[in-house]
Amino acid sequence: MRRKLVIGNWKMHGKHQANAQLLEALLPALAESAGVETAVCPPYPYLAQVAELLAGSTLKLGAQNLSRFDQGAHTGEVSAHMLRELGCQYVLVGHSERRSLYGEDDRLVAEKFAAALCADLVPVLCVGESLAQRRGEITERVVAEQIQAVLQRVGINGLAGGVIAYEPVWAIGTGETATPAQVQAVHRHIRSLLAEQDPAVAAAMRILYGGSVKAANAGELFAQTDVDGGLIGGASLDAASFAAICAAAQR
Ligand code: PGA
Repeated sequence: MRRKLVIGNWKMHGKHQANAQLLEALLPALAESAGVETAVCPPYPYLAQVAELLAGSTLKLGAQNLSRFDQGAHTGEVSAHMLRELGCQYVLVGHSERRSLYGEDDRLVAEKFAAALCADLVPVLCVGESLAQRRGEITERVVAEQIQAVLQRVGINGLAGGVIAYEPVWAIGTGETATPAQVQAVHRHIRSLLAEQDPAVAAAMRILYGGSVKAANAGELFAQTDVDGGLIGGASLDAASFAAICAAAQR
């Protein structure tokens, strides 16, 4: 049985006071979803603050990005072991905003995935097609190539140490959600790709969906056979919404 996982991606939002208020409301509200694994990914400067606020709770900490390098002359970068020291357990890798706005390609994403594994972080590999690629009916190929790049770098056993998040680019922050049937089709495709390499890894791999998940649509998305939770952007900034999404994963 794959335990459902819901991760909040705060993106570049937050302030000390707002973070504290959000978590103060969120932590008690998560009592409804004790069977679900939950995490939040605040911006780097707030990791220490949030780690302190999460102490003693079941809500886990993650980061939104990391360097492929362990240390050295890399001004402005943050390494996997630094994230680990700050209490992170998860790290997003290859989010579409990193790919499209900061030029991260499949090779760099694979290096980052490997760097996360080396520091005992669980990398959350984000994959997904653009609107043009969906219209061109190459969604499955795009997603397969994104996963293949990581498989080439760390192998199926390395991939098994992470989580996959399917996030169609056209559904991120747009209010447009993929239909449950569209999501299930891509998730099943991803699982079958992994099964070609190792059926046990495929069966155990958690595949999250992300892209305009809200309290109102989370239930039917999470009810799909191959959907093991969600990566939540906008709705994770509101305690009631995020708690309701986590509760939907519990059902
Ligand atoms: P959204 O973002 O929920 O705001 O669409 C999802 C994500 O980018 O991870």
